[in-house]
Amino acid sequence: MAKLLFEWDYSSYPGAKAYPHLFKPIQIGNLTVPNRIKYAATEDNLNDHNGFITDADVEYMRLRAEGVVGGLCFMQGVYMDPARKGQGYVGQAAAWDDKYIPGLKKIADAIHGEKAIAGYQLMDCGRVGAVEVESGHAPSTVPQRLRVFKPMFEMTNAEIKEMVQQHVDAAKRGIEAGFDVIEISGIVGYLISNFLSSYTNRRTDEYGGDIRGRSQSMIEIIQGVKEVCGPDIPVGIRLCSDELLSDVRGNTPEESMQTYQFAEEAGADYISCTLGWQESIFPVISRDIPQGNWLFLAKRAKEHVNIPIQMAYRLFTPDKPNKAIGDGELDIWEMCRSMIADPLMPKKVLEGREDEVRHCVACNLCLARLFRDAPMTCYINPRCAHEHDETFYPKSVEEDDRKEVMIVGAGPAGLECAYVSAQRGHEVHVYDKRDELGGTILEASQAPYGDEELMTCTNYQKVMCEQAGVHFHLGTEVTEELIQDELPDTVVLATGPVYAKVPGPGGDRDNVVNVLDVLGGKAEVGEKVVVWGNRKPGIGVALFLAKQGKKVTLVGKDKSAGFDVNPSFKWRYMIYLRQNGIMAYNDCNIEEINDDGITVKTYDGYHFPVACDTIVVSEREANESLKKAVQGEGIELFVIGDALVPRNLSSAVHDGYRIGLRI
Ligand SMILES: Cc1cc2nc3c(=O)[nH]c(=O)nc-3n(C[C@H](O)[C@H](O)[C@H](O)COP(=O)(O)O)c2cc1C
Ligand code: SF4
Repeated sequence: MAKLLFEWDYSSYPGAKAYPHLFKPIQIGNLTVPNRIKYAATEDNLNDHNGFITDADVEYMRLRAEGVVGGLCFMQGVYMDPARKGQGYVGQAAAWDDKYIPGLKKIADAIHGEKAIAGYQLMDCGRVGAVEVESGHAPSTVPQRLRVFKPMFEMTNAEIKEMVQQHVDAAKRGIEAGFDVIEISGIVGYLISNFLSSYTNRRTDEYGGDIRGRSQSMIEIIQGVKEVCGPDIPVGIRLCSDELLSDVRGNTPEESMQTYQFAEEAGADYISCTLGWQESIFPVISRDIPQGNWLFLAKRAKEHVNIPIQMAYRLFTPDKPNKAIGDGELDIWEMCRSMIADPLMPKKVLEGREDEVRHCVACNLCLARLFRDAPMTCYINPRCAHEHDETFYPKSVEEDDRKEVMIVGAGPAGLECAYVSAQRGHEVHVYDKRDELGGTILEASQAPYGDEELMTCTNYQKVMCEQAGVHFHLGTEVTEELIQDELPDTVVLATGPVYAKVPGPGGDRDNVVNVLDVLGGKAEVGEKVVVWGNRKPGIGVALFLAKQGKKVTLVGKDKSAGFDVNPSFKWRYMIYLRQNGIMAYNDCNIEEINDDGITVKTYDGYHFPVACDTIVVSEREANESLKKAVQGEGIELFVIGDALVPRNLSSAVHDGYRIGLRI
């Protein structure tokens, strides 16, 4: 009889009716999991730099445990070697000594406190490791493809056996700390995948050679960990179903499926199906990859093994995993980023509150920060990584301190500020000259490669505002007179940026149009276009126009295009610019606009012409309008989002949230 840790009855919940396959139990090993939901292991860089668990990490995990409503909740992968070669992140939790057990126990207890199943992950980061030391360990000495990673040196046979034992010892510590499931991470270029891959394993001894030999260390780890776990604690492994490393002679998909079979034979109770490597040149989880794109890999995995298959990777909404599970192509829906962005995401689905989900926009800022040794944050969720900090939660104001707040602009900054301040008890009025909510997101979401997902931010904010009782005054332009008439206690200017005037002669010509009008379909654009401004708005509109078959040139002052896009996504845009034939002139400016097009002036004084019939302005400046009017009345004033300094959606949301907490 399989063990059931906590009783859950979902039958009366709307989500269980809408998504019946997600809320039915499954057995993994000898454990019954009440539903098909898993928060996948997520490094957050929130722990102490010596590997000890912090309160920030415990509270981060507690909230995700609440989110899985009785399902599996995994803590980040721990590193296991005292030499720290396996450590991939400065704030990664450690488990190479018993001294770490009390901290680990705090996480297991927090997860159990939410009646969820506590998962513990073993993760030697291999080629991605050695973050605090000079060099790391690997099956073979193969040069790194990405400069950010340290050199890796071949392990001796004895060192491999020691590494296997470290996994076993660390598993024992996890069990002692109270975890219910042990998982071995063999994904995206970490040590186990380094052994499995023909790209990085060139050994000729028992740990190398053919795919069976390359799987030997994985098999020993699974067998060793199984032995200490006994029959009641399931052991799973995350394994690559397709490395996407064909250009460097990595494993074939057939070889990857063989590793699944070896893992099953070695005793794994489930496999988490992953794909891609840090060093792969193919995108896997960025916004340009359609949701559900990779489900076929879970299906293929199920055709090769009999143990349950779990999978994440761009499954941000419940419909696709529900269907895949119903069709027998998947067993458990894993989530990482969708629960970074909204820790209570599956709980809201269960309770029929899907419209309250704050969706991840797949920008990969969370990852980019980890690789820069910074604590994780989320582009779209300002509270992420501050779960332990009560100053980050809206606090109700006293009756006497309630204010009338006028928010000018219903874009992402204004709406965020509106619902947060309304939740605190203020009377909030949002004005916008347009008839719609969303501000510049309405246009930005027209750009190709997945940007339509940016609208999920507005959809969420709208619901939050409605619930908090925000008053909307759409189609109403705020003027000095209106401010004088209303005389609110506080004005928040979230008016968005102003678009800069092209320097030099010709800036007033009729063929100079604005990025918003172009994306909104209001401006006429010829066949040869110059986009002025090489940040994200410029890149977005350049791609939008190139997709229509126009010849587009990007001209901008920043040294490289996409300065404001985080590096984990920027490389995608660089490829798309090339694929769409867009020429980018960076570190330069427009000198003049003439009958034939423009003259470009480079930073070192060169001049050259670029022929075009239309110039699209995407350069932005801070918006000074209404500031003086508000200050003149002695009204409390805040300026947020692009009106303060033109930046990006994330800055708008974070500004709005923080000022919403302060008013
Ligand atoms: C910030 C971040 C940290 C991660 N840390 C881990 C980790 O510690 N162990 C692991 O096996 N996978 C880790 N992953 C991979 C995720 O668990 C997941 O497989 C991947 O993000 C794809 O799922 P998603 O599309 O739901 O985000 C991490 C991913 C992100 C974005
Ligand atoms: S930072 Fe970006 S990718 Fe990461 S969870 Fe937040 S929205 Fe998603």
